[in-house]
Amino acid sequence: MKDVYTLDDLASRSLLDEGAELPARLAVLGSPVAHSLSPQLHQASLDEISSGARYIRLEVAPGEVAGALDRLQELEFIGANVTVPHKFEALSAADEIDGAATMLGAANTILFEEDRKLAFNTDGPGFVRAIHEEFLVDIKDLRIMVVGAGGGAGQAIATQCAREGCERLVLVNRSVSKAEELATRLSSCFESERLEGPGDRLKVFSLDSPELISESGHIDLIVNTTSVGLRQTDPSPLPSACLQPHHLVYDTIYNPAQTRLLGEASQVGARIANGYSLLLYQGVLSFELWFPGRNPLATMRVSLQSAVSSPQSRGQGIGGE
Ligand code: ATR
Repeated sequence: MKDVYTLDDLASRSLLDEGAELPARLAVLGSPVAHSLSPQLHQASLDEISSGARYIRLEVAPGEVAGALDRLQELEFIGANVTVPHKFEALSAADEIDGAATMLGAANTILFEEDRKLAFNTDGPGFVRAIHEEFLVDIKDLRIMVVGAGGGAGQAIATQCAREGCERLVLVNRSVSKAEELATRLSSCFESERLEGPGDRLKVFSLDSPELISESGHIDLIVNTTSVGLRQTDPSPLPSACLQPHHLVYDTIYNPAQTRLLGEASQVGARIANGYSLLLYQGVLSFELWFPGRNPLATMRVSLQSAVSSPQSRGQGIGGE
């Protein structure tokens, strides 16, 4: 058994399953993929329902995603997760794409059904579930600031917030042009129903804008989707003057468990949560697509706890997973 498999290992079933008790029937595709916690996240739940399936990591180079998925289907895999940088390529390899994946322009879950590949995205819906669990609020009722809205994770979360019809969406990014592009794509979500134009409910700021501090007074939920905070020595991505006691602050980073941002937010009396719940719920929702009617939440929570506390683990609940 290997920690990471490659396309060469897919040459035959016997090669792929050498030394393993169960046949590999689910995989996470990424590059690099060695850090992925998905096998630890899913395996206990697969065992619990006696699926008879093993979950593996598969290193796939850019440009080879469609071929890899074809081969997995030939080998009678149930499905797959797809992580960075393959979420866009996976979408184009699919025969059918669900609403969230279409809107996000990216897929993180594939289900093989007969000879078709169905693509889904559980990152956005997982975020909705995570925020509800952490703060007992609904995205649609919130004024939300997404910090890092130009990156892959930020785009997915901001898009989901727009889909949910959140009260207000403020996109913040170091390079403001990327956030502006996203705002253009999302503007149609804010045009209907209300009298104000999209300009009132959808705004873009550069991370170093002096207006960010006054703007944050009109925000309920701040979400960090930048990679700033992954290293213990990283600063906070947001000026501390932006943080106020009424804020809910969510950092998509789960290890370290408390980033500088969350520490500063907690000090001013804001409620905080980290990306652990996002990692958990995107996994739960993928599992439920592969095994409808099964609820792996309790088991996955326990699996994730031990995986996240392992010394090698470091990451973000979205994008990096
Ligand atoms: P991706 O998710 O697309 O692979 P990334 O390079 O990991 O991108 O960066 C994710 C996000 O973190 C981006 O919003 C990025 O800002 P830019 O679009 O301006 O590059 C943000 N980011 C990364 N390092 C940063 C830093 N030191 N300060 C502020 N934002 C940063």
